[in-house]
Amino acid sequence: MTELRLSSLKLRNFKGIRDLTITPGGGDADVFGDNATGKTTLFDAFLWLLFDKDSQNKKDFSIKTLAATGAVERHGFEHEVEGVLNLDSKTLTLRKAYYERWTKKRGSAERTFEGHTTDYYIDGVPAKKSEYTARVAEICDEGVFRLLTDPSYFNQVMRWTDRRALLLEVCGDITEADVIASDIALAKLPDVLAGRSIDDHRKVIAARRATINKELERIPVRIDEVSQGLPEVAESRGSIESSLKKIRTTAQDKHQERARLKAGGQVAEKRRQLSEAKAELQMIENAAQAKADEERRAAQQAAGDLTYRIDTLTQKIERHENTIASNLNTVRRLEADMEKLREKWRTIDAETFEKDMEEHDTVCYACGQDLPAEQIEAARQKALAAFNRSKAEGLEKIDAEGKETKQRAGELSLDNERLRKEIQELEAERDKLAEKKANAPAIEDVPVSLPAEHASTEEEISKLEAEIASLGEGNTEALATVDAEIADLKAQISELEAKLAQVDQREKSQERIRELAAKERELAAEFERLEKELHLCETFIKTKVGLLEEKINAKFQLARFKLFEVQINEGVKECCETLVNGVPYSDLNNGSRINVGLDIINTLSEYYGFTAPIFVDNAEAVTALSDTRGQLIRLVVSGADKDLRVETKTALKEAI
Ligand SMILES: Nc1ncnc2c1ncn2[C@@H]1O[C@H](COP(=O)(O)OP(=O)(O)O)[C@@H](O)[C@H]1O
Ligand SMILES: [Mg+2]
Repeated sequence: MTELRLSSLKLRNFKGIRDLTITPGGGDADVFGDNATGKTTLFDAFLWLLFDKDSQNKKDFSIKTLAATGAVERHGFEHEVEGVLNLDSKTLTLRKAYYERWTKKRGSAERTFEGHTTDYYIDGVPAKKSEYTARVAEICDEGVFRLLTDPSYFNQVMRWTDRRALLLEVCGDITEADVIASDIALAKLPDVLAGRSIDDHRKVIAARRATINKELERIPVRIDEVSQGLPEVAESRGSIESSLKKIRTTAQDKHQERARLKAGGQVAEKRRQLSEAKAELQMIENAAQAKADEERRAAQQAAGDLTYRIDTLTQKIERHENTIASNLNTVRRLEADMEKLREKWRTIDAETFEKDMEEHDTVCYACGQDLPAEQIEAARQKALAAFNRSKAEGLEKIDAEGKETKQRAGELSLDNERLRKEIQELEAERDKLAEKKANAPAIEDVPVSLPAEHASTEEEISKLEAEIASLGEGNTEALATVDAEIADLKAQISELEAKLAQVDQREKSQERIRELAAKERELAAEFERLEKELHLCETFIKTKVGLLEEKINAKFQLARFKLFEVQINEGVKECCETLVNGVPYSDLNNGSRINVGLDIINTLSEYYGFTAPIFVDNAEAVTALSDTRGQLIRLVVSGADKDLRVETKTALKEAI
């Protein structure tokens, strides 16, 4: 146990106090004074000395002496506190001086304000601020110091959570195991918690319960929704599925049939190609036939020409032969004529003038008298000459005629000779033609010659015929029928599928309803389980509360603590309230507050192993102050004391 005691405290120009020294000498002291005489200022000074703060825990309070106007009364003071402390058996003197810093520039009469400075002294030796702070920190932590020097600090300055934490720290919390062990009913709890803290578990339960509640509210609504949306189904799944199966099979067959028919469609196309090819073949053949016919006609023509020419030649030959024959006749007649002429010539030639005068010749035709002889001679001579002349003329005429006839016969013979020669030529020509005719091929034998195209077309035809044979029969009409049937089947299938989908949906919805109902039951069961768990948690907490408060309260004489608040909903809320005889701190009178504060300081001093001077402000409120382990400095209002008066207890409290 470290004890810190105040031996003396000296204030100079501190918060309006010019100069004051109290010397409790490490023992208890009572400080009397009227209001505003500086009692509280003493505590401020003590705290400022150690921690730079006043009793209100303020750092920026005005140390410097202020005038009634609020302004600093006079500059240039040294504001100073010096404390002589007994730390166990050792003495420690701490001094702090706070003052304005003025500097005078060289060559200037004016001094200028540069701010404030604090000087630190440890045992009269100037120290750096850091050294000073370190030395104080060595003695005690500021927070602890505040707790141990001010009876109101715990209850009035600290936050309740810090208070609670401190109490639990000081008294030791109770472990869950301790709580569980204290009540057989709590044995199940560890399993329930599954490693979570009670608090966390309660939060989890609360959250879960809220969720469950919400879900439980929602589920009937959702079941309702699903029920309303349940599709009406007239047919059973089995019946729909079997119809569907049947129709699908039929559809499959139809598809196969269609495929076959489709192949038939190809046959139709092939057939078309085939008939085209055949038509083309026919055309080729017709063309070939026409060509052959033409050739035949030409041949016939040629044969006809030959015959005609042969006939013509024969006729000409015959005509020539006739001419020859007629010429020969003529020649023979001419030769007979010539014989006759020769006969005639000879006759004429043989004729002599011996003829008697004819009467008329001897008689004058005019007078009819015989003419004289001479006259008759003359007349005979004359007649002879006429005779001879006539004879020559006759001969000459025959000669001429004979010559002419002979010439004519010669001409005809020549002509015949020419004709015979001509006949020979004609016969040769005719023979040539006849031979040509004989050699000409029979018209029936003129061949029909087919072009190469014919063979390739025939080849194509046989190929198409083979393909058609392999493809089988096709029928566009049948294809259309099958297509219609397939379309109908498809429609039936989609209708059935739609029905099936409805059945599916109905089943799904029903399943969903079942699920929701199951979920509802599950949630209700869980809710019940959570209720039980919650109850268990609460039992735990109440047990823990009981145990903890018991444990903590045992540490204090006067103070009792309420650490949990049982709420209306049976829940438990943490709190921290100091009670005295069941009365909460806030309702206590000043005296009780001070005493309970001192009680708490005693326990805390014990805990920290440290005591410090306790400044009890308004100590006049208490007639009987609780005993304290630490040095007690009572600040007492006393109207009679216009100046502070200090009564020190003679004896220095002995360490117990
Ligand atoms: N910096 C200051 N300069 C001058 N007077 C001050 C200063 N700070 C506080 N005071 C005054 O000093 C007086 C002492 O106050 P306080 O110590 O609280 O008196 P008590 O606790 O004895 O009632 C008060 O009247 C207060 O107004
Ligand atoms: Mg006061």
